[in-house]
Amino acid sequence: MSAYGSFPGSRPRRLRTTPAMRRMVAEYRLHPSDLILPAFVREGISEPLAISAMPGVVQHTRDTLRKAAVEAVEAGVAGIMLFGVPADENKDALGTAGTEPDGILQVAIRDVKAEVGDDLVIMSDLCLDEYTDHGHCGVLDEHGRVDNDATLERYAEMAQVQADAGVHVVGPSGMMDGQVGVIRDALDETGHEDVSILAYTAKYSSAFYGPFREAVASSLQGDRKTYQQDPANARESLRELALDLEEGADMVMVKPAGPYLDILHRVAEAVDVPVAAYQISGEYAMVEAAAEKGWIERDRAIMETLLGIKRAGADTILTYWATEVAGWLRAER
Ligand code: PBG
Repeated sequence: MSAYGSFPGSRPRRLRTTPAMRRMVAEYRLHPSDLILPAFVREGISEPLAISAMPGVVQHTRDTLRKAAVEAVEAGVAGIMLFGVPADENKDALGTAGTEPDGILQVAIRDVKAEVGDDLVIMSDLCLDEYTDHGHCGVLDEHGRVDNDATLERYAEMAQVQADAGVHVVGPSGMMDGQVGVIRDALDETGHEDVSILAYTAKYSSAFYGPFREAVASSLQGDRKTYQQDPANARESLRELALDLEEGADMVMVKPAGPYLDILHRVAEAVDVPVAAYQISGEYAMVEAAAEKGWIERDRAIMETLLGIKRAGADTILTYWATEVAGWLRAER
């Protein structure tokens, strides 16, 4: 205490005085190996196609996807999450292209595997919405509702063809009840015991998926509210978590990330498996749009969103900025 009696006895600012000091006391750091790059590959195009709502992200050709995978490896990124976009004429009610051995996603898995081998963890979206003409994550019953159990049969087939193509991790993202168990069984029965499941455990019905629809050229009829979670619920995520772990999930994910950091924190506190968070298309678009207008500092804002996700408890972050940010992190040291 000072002679005046009113000065602070404790000064946390001392540890913020210099960049070196701040670096020394930083509690959380991002590392390139925290990051996973989601990537889209479109069937039948010869040039990459820009996605207008996601400036800087494209629908890749098979060739440019291979290049993006190599760049990710060079930057030290941990993995790549692949999404296939079939040609419009190859979309149908059952999402047939999702289970054909030469469907675009399976072809892309083989391409990336041939290019980078095991240097990158190769992951695939296991869901039907990229392949259905109605845009839902499952097949519909005669009343137009998403039929849970009929969809599970399709997911089992998808798991097998994706694993046959050489994927390391499948990412079931459709929020069907029982999906993790059915996929585990399908993998085990077809000799793919080593293929892991990254379960989209807490997946909310979110407006922030908007730009993704353009990314996978999907025209969704209706909404996903009967299968994805209501943003008004938190406890429900712990129920989903218990089920996914029981069914054999190797890793669990919370999605979106930014608006659901509380959920991420609760999930991370509750489990003993790795926890992933997906910073989705709308989260990306918001930062890019505000930065383009000059309203925020782009790079700082990006780092802040990612650190927030890590602080909340994510071990792994899926982000469209993965390669770029990994490059910054490498340059820093
Ligand atoms: C479903 C899937 C979606 C995303 C990833 N997997 C869309 C949805 O559930 O509506 C969204 C990813 C993003 O918005 O970046 N196949």
